[in-house]
Amino acid sequence: MTQLATREFINGLPKAELHLHLEGTLEPELKLALAQKNGIDIGQSTIAEIRASYQFDSLASFLAVYYPAMDVLQTEDDFYHLAFTYLQKAHQENVRYAELFFDPQAHMARGIAFETVVNGFHRACTDAHAFNLDAHLIMCFLRDLSAESARQLLAIAKPYQTKILGIGLDSDEHHNPPLKFLREYGEAVAQGYRITMHADIDQVDAIQHIQQALEIIRVERLDHGTNIVENPDLVDWVAQLRIGLTACPLSNRLVADDMQDQEILQLMDHNVKVSINSDDPAYFGGYINDNYAAIAVKNGLTIEQIVQFAKNSFETAWISDAQKQVYLAEIDTYVADYFKK
Ligand code: ADE
Ligand code: ZN
Repeated sequence: MTQLATREFINGLPKAELHLHLEGTLEPELKLALAQKNGIDIGQSTIAEIRASYQFDSLASFLAVYYPAMDVLQTEDDFYHLAFTYLQKAHQENVRYAELFFDPQAHMARGIAFETVVNGFHRACTDAHAFNLDAHLIMCFLRDLSAESARQLLAIAKPYQTKILGIGLDSDEHHNPPLKFLREYGEAVAQGYRITMHADIDQVDAIQHIQQALEIIRVERLDHGTNIVENPDLVDWVAQLRIGLTACPLSNRLVADDMQDQEILQLMDHNVKVSINSDDPAYFGGYINDNYAAIAVKNGLTIEQIVQFAKNSFETAWISDAQKQVYLAEIDTYVADYFKK
């Protein structure tokens, strides 16, 4: 197990994806095809021009490119196509289980009905059962919109609740602390949703935001959240409560200049349940196996370390203990077979 993890080992390893924005899987090719089909002017007319527009060095500059691109998604089939294309790719990368973020408010603000979005995404999750990939949806509140808007979203989602597993919080964290949504999170828990939220990298008041999320709102996971290493008491807390942190090395590198690999490995050393995920792969240069490989290659990680990330992903997924045992056994079988080769 002290053997270094190769790309081949990473590719075949069963894993869960817990931090992926479906809208962040919109590849330039699909963006252009949907723009042409739906007669939407996106300001670029070639793949090269689209790629050239991906200039960002912060969360805010990324979001300024990310939201306008969503205009090309118009029909239920468009949402289905986007999600199903991602799920096929995830299956090829041996993702066995996925919990996927989506941003209904960003679509409703441009006149797309909630049901168009949720039905398209959910149908894709259902169809992924054909290749034995279990996928679920996490509905995000946009934190730069009002708490009232989040409350309205919860009400609109109520008839579709069987299609949504959990609630997340994303978009621009600046001046938008977790406590802004205290009541809405309380309501979400009362309605039976699982809860998580973003704690993006190096945000103003990062530690206070993480404290609010963990100690007051009591989220079950934290998305990113690696700034927690600045506070050893909080690190102990998440380790003891086995709260998952969903790290995304490649997106960290683009919005924060650094993969945060030292922080991720430090958390692992403290027995924190940190996992590796892909965030917005169409924008940040790689899907889940690219993220595993990026941190593995840079740090010379062993098979044992990589296996621990994959085990953490299942252990912090919103599934029963029995389901966790099934996936963990799959990993053990994969590793045993790998060494027999
Ligand atoms: N929306 C899509 N990706 C995001 C991220 N990494 N942080 C906050 N909001 C997002
Ligand atoms: Zn994210």
